[in-house]
Amino acid sequence: MKSIIELIEAKRDGEEHSEEDVRHLISSYVSGEMPDYQMAAWLMAAYLRGLSSAETAWLTTAMAESGRMVDLSAVPGVILDKHSTGGVGDKTTLVLAPLVASCGVPVAKMSGRGLGHTGGTLDKLESIPGFSVTMEQDALVRQLQDIGMVVTAQSEDVDPADKKMYALRDVTGTVRSIPLIVASIISKKVAGCANAIVLDVKVGSGAFMKTEDEARALAHELQRVGELLGRKVVCVMTDMSQPLGRAVGNSVEVCEAIRTLKGQGPPDLTELCLALGAKMLVLGGVADDERIGRDLLLDSIAEGRALATFSAWVAAQGGDANVAENPALLPLAEYATVVTAPRGGYVTGFDAEGVGRAAMLLGAGRETKEADIDLGAGLVLEAKIGDAIAEGAPLATLYASDAGLFESAQERLLASIMIGDDEPEPPVLFHEV
Ligand code: URA
Repeated sequence: MKSIIELIEAKRDGEEHSEEDVRHLISSYVSGEMPDYQMAAWLMAAYLRGLSSAETAWLTTAMAESGRMVDLSAVPGVILDKHSTGGVGDKTTLVLAPLVASCGVPVAKMSGRGLGHTGGTLDKLESIPGFSVTMEQDALVRQLQDIGMVVTAQSEDVDPADKKMYALRDVTGTVRSIPLIVASIISKKVAGCANAIVLDVKVGSGAFMKTEDEARALAHELQRVGELLGRKVVCVMTDMSQPLGRAVGNSVEVCEAIRTLKGQGPPDLTELCLALGAKMLVLGGVADDERIGRDLLLDSIAEGRALATFSAWVAAQGGDANVAENPALLPLAEYATVVTAPRGGYVTGFDAEGVGRAAMLLGAGRETKEADIDLGAGLVLEAKIGDAIAEGAPLATLYASDAGLFESAQERLLASIMIGDDEPEPPVLFHEV
């Protein structure tokens, strides 16, 4: 067996590792035998030299097997997971999980917290009074059997290799590496026991991947590695050139998700959920094709089953299910202000990341992992790309618990919304499937 230093040198020189090499690397790192500085060197070598799909698949398996594997064998059939590479206003999971579960396909999802300009599903869920995101394995299986869905925090003992490596990548300039991102995402899905995965790779100013080429390369590798590991994978590339829907924050996003489950959501969020949901129903074997899947989803919304599943889910995880009928039960920050258009014209574009940063300045996001967030803070856009606006018309409503936060957030927001004279083409929601 090669020593750790030989493995670092091999990758530095562009050599391909064997499966045994990769397993040795991960087990040494997780056991603490390999210090952070050696893993940092290897990560940089992998970042610069790349990893083959086979190496990435071995890395993924070794990471997934570095801790406890969630056991969902008691739940029959295909268990679906859905993952988004993250964006601004992306509350898709809050809609999609109950919507798909209401049509008979179990959804089990382990989610993360938000860091920086993209919000985290767990933070959004915790804005529902009483909602708990931690759960023992037995309770998780029971909930999946009873109501067909569960969304939890990834527990500490699941995929510890990813936790250690991600923290190190964050401070060593090695996050934006396609093989490392693929291993990080898929290892969590494998450890979480999903056998079919829908991956939403966001592309645009609010996403991790800013260009189509980068997003396409990531999407293809996610698919290739997922399939090498025997998972059914569907990968879509979707727009993040403007925030998804209109709400950006935590409780404000839950509120928008509830409206979408009632069939009253913003068109882009609704369309994304129907399109992804239809793919999930096909993967889950309850629809023969996506058109049938879409009809099943629309029926579930119209008949109130999607919303009823949402309520059952919230109640099962200790939350106040009355929020479904009365969103005023959700926290909302005490102060509000309306940002108005400095000139008339059309909204021609967004710096979506800038909108996310404005929400963060209001208290809705966190700069460091340990920072507290204000679950009732955020913003709601009154205009999106293509909307005509008059000078002085509302562009967004901001919510904060401290009115002193408005000035910098407003400045950031205004710098992130482009207004021009010519009506723009609407952005394409689906770039590629
Ligand atoms: N999301 C993840 O889970 N891991 C990465 O490396 C990047 C995005």
